[in-house]
Amino acid sequence: MNFILRGSVCYSKSPTELVTLEKGYVVCKDNVCEGVYTEIPEAYKAYPVKDCGERIIIPGMADLHTHAPQYTFRGLGMDKELLDWLNAYTFPEEAKYEDEGYARQAYQKFASDLKQTTTTRACIFGTIHPHSTEILMEQLEATGLITYVGKVNMDQNAPDYLCESSAAESVIATEKWINTVQSKFKNTKPMITPRFVPSCSGELLEKLHDVQEKYQLPVQSHLSENMGEIQLVQELFPQSSCYADVYHQYGLIDKECKTVMAHCVYCSEEEMKLLKENQVYVAHCPESNANLASGIAPIRKYMEHHIPIGLGSDVAAGSKLSIFYAMQDAIVMSKMRWRLVDNSLAPLTFEEAFYLATKGGGSFFGKVGSFEPGYEFDAVILDDKNLETLLQLSIKERAERMMYLADDRNIVGKYVAGKEV
Ligand code: GUN
Ligand code: FE
Repeated sequence: MNFILRGSVCYSKSPTELVTLEKGYVVCKDNVCEGVYTEIPEAYKAYPVKDCGERIIIPGMADLHTHAPQYTFRGLGMDKELLDWLNAYTFPEEAKYEDEGYARQAYQKFASDLKQTTTTRACIFGTIHPHSTEILMEQLEATGLITYVGKVNMDQNAPDYLCESSAAESVIATEKWINTVQSKFKNTKPMITPRFVPSCSGELLEKLHDVQEKYQLPVQSHLSENMGEIQLVQELFPQSSCYADVYHQYGLIDKECKTVMAHCVYCSEEEMKLLKENQVYVAHCPESNANLASGIAPIRKYMEHHIPIGLGSDVAAGSKLSIFYAMQDAIVMSKMRWRLVDNSLAPLTFEEAFYLATKGGGSFFGKVGSFEPGYEFDAVILDDKNLETLLQLSIKERAERMMYLADDRNIVGKYVAGKEV
C-alpha cells in the first residue's frame, strides 16, 4: 500500500534520540516507511493523504512476552511468588485449554483485546495443547497483527494434568503442530517454547534444539526470574554454571538461533555475557516482576552491555496488555531500584522507555518500530483530546502523558506492515 499519514509524529532513533515533528508527513510505500517529512516530496505527491489533525502518530509497539491462556485470570491471584503462583493458579487454568471450546472462547477475547492496544507485534505463549494453540493462531491471524506463537513444552516438575508424558511425545506433538501451522497463516508464525528450565528435561531441551534447527524457528522462554526458581535450576542441572548456561548447553541460546528470554531479573555477569554474545533479547516485564515480588531487573546495566531489550506485558503475572503501562512500570521500577538497591544505575527516562517499547522490542521482528526509512510501516494513531489541559504541551510531553493516562479509547487507528487493522 502507498499512502501518507499527516499529524504530530513521534518516534525513536536511539534510546536517547526521540524525534518529534508537528504536522509531519509519514510516507508509506509498498508497506515500508519512506521517512517523515515537513512537506510531501515530489515522488509521493500522488499518494492519498490521511490527515490525522492534531493526533499523535507513533510506531507500533512490540510485546515480547505474554501468555494468552492466562488472560482469563488477569488481575487475580497476585498473593504468591512464582513457583507457588504457577501451581496454585496458572497450571490449573492452563489445563482447561485441553477443551477446544474453552480455548476458542478465551482466545477470542484475548485476541480482540490485544487488537485494541498499541501492540502491532508480539511473542505469545499458548499451552501444551497443539490444537488449542492452533485456535489461538487462527484468532490472532484474524486481527491483522504480526505474531509468533508457541505451543508450550513441559515434561517434568508439573502436575500430571499439565505434563507431557515424555520428551519424545512432547517433540512429536510439537513437530506435528509446526507442520500444520507453519504455512497456514500469513502473519502468525510458530515459535519453539520450552516453558522454562524446571519444567523441561535435558532430553527435551536437546530435542527442541534439533526441531529449532530443522525448521529454523525462533525460541522463547523464561530466564532468572525468581530466586527460588534459580535455586531449583541449579539443583536440576548441577553441571551447568548458571541458568542461562543450561539453555546455552542445549543450543537454545546460540548465535544461530533467535531467542527471547523473559524477565532476566537476576542475571550474573556470566549470563549477561551469554546474552550479549548470542544477541538474546531480554523481555523486560516490570509489572509481573512487581506482582510476583520477583525483583527489579537492572535494565540500564543490560543496555550498557548492549544486550537487546524489549518490553513484555507477561499477562497474567502482569495484569494488563498495554505496553504503555509496561513503559510506565519500567520507569517506576527503575527509580525504586536506583533509590533502594543501587544508585549507580540511573532510572530509565521516558525516551528510553519509548525506545524499548518500539524500536528496541520491534527489532526482534526485523526493521520494525521506527519511522526511519526502510522500516516496516507499523503505526498507531493516538487521540488525546479527552485529556486536554490548560497547558501548552509539546508532542513529547503529550506522548509522555499518553504513557501514564491512555487507555483503549485513545487509540483510534493502527497499521501493521502497511495494512490498516
Ligand atoms: N515461568 C514459567 N512459567 C511462567 C509463567 O507462566 N509466568 C511467569 N511469569 N513466569 C513463568
Ligand atoms: Fe511469562
